[in-house]
Amino acid sequence: MAERDRVARYVSLVDAIRKCRKCPLHLHRKNPVPGEGPLDARVMLVGEAPGRREDETGRPFVGAAGHLLDALLGLAGLKREEVYITNIVKCRPPGNRDPTQAEIRACLPYLLEQIDIIRPGLLIALGRHAGRTLFSLLGRPWRGLSAEHGVPIRGTIKQLGLEVEVIATYHPAAALYNPQLRSVIEEDFRGSIREEASKLLAGRGRDARRGRSLLDFF
Ligand code: URA
Repeated sequence: MAERDRVARYVSLVDAIRKCRKCPLHLHRKNPVPGEGPLDARVMLVGEAPGRREDETGRPFVGAAGHLLDALLGLAGLKREEVYITNIVKCRPPGNRDPTQAEIRACLPYLLEQIDIIRPGLLIALGRHAGRTLFSLLGRPWRGLSAEHGVPIRGTIKQLGLEVEVIATYHPAAALYNPQLRSVIEEDFRGSIREEASKLLAGRGRDARRGRSLLDFF
């Protein structure tokens, strides 16, 4: 897709998310949180839903879980500026409750459109809602995070004709309060996530950074 078309499609997606009233979450939000990162990112991270700080700022993973996520990305040899970060639902559930299945279903077309615009090679699901949703896009049964975390799954998102790798891991917020989970999530980032990401990014000339492009400013 030409850079100009990709940017135009993304701008109209963000506009649709800002105006969205497809589920009751719009009633409580201060700001929807579409996501951010370069539109040609090879790695996309998918969290659960915006929290309080994200709702205030309109940006994903800027609170305590976001600080941990930055450190985890470092373990995988990744920088925040080179990955695209979004969530399964784009508006904050009141009181940080879990999103409902109806809310996830209503928001899913936005995630599919993001994936189709960016066409990443690796999707990292953060937490069980993201894991279950991304596995369902591949038509894979979901056996829970303790069985699925850290294991790369290759499959095709049929709606998009896109072959991708999916790795599910625990949500950084869960790891903040549970030191045992923290070491599991760190191992996933240091292990399979680092390995799969470095295969995708090899040969991209990341040190000799490509020229800045419009695709970088989202
Ligand atoms: N937790 C999430 O799942 N997403 C965010 O953006 C922030 C916290």
